[in-house]
Amino acid sequence: MILCSCNVLSDRDIRERLGDSPSRRSPGALFRQLGCEPKCGRCIRNILATIDQHRATAGECAGEGACDSCRADELAA
Ligand code: FES
Repeated sequence: MILCSCNVLSDRDIRERLGDSPSRRSPGALFRQLGCEPKCGRCIRNILATIDQHRATAGECAGEGACDSCRADELAA
């Protein structure tokens, strides 16, 4: 799924760049590592959610509501 239409970045691009590292990277750092930069910024929220989901699958989140992914419904309200 395309997350950033300005740079045509998919969730797969983001996950591949995150790799096995459980450390949180900022969206700005990810853009730089992918050789682009944010333009309109509409994708930032979805990129942050993808980063949190990736961390959760890497075992960093215990699913206890501590990350943005766990609180997605709350944040969307
Ligand atoms: S959609 Fe990502 S910068 Fe515009």
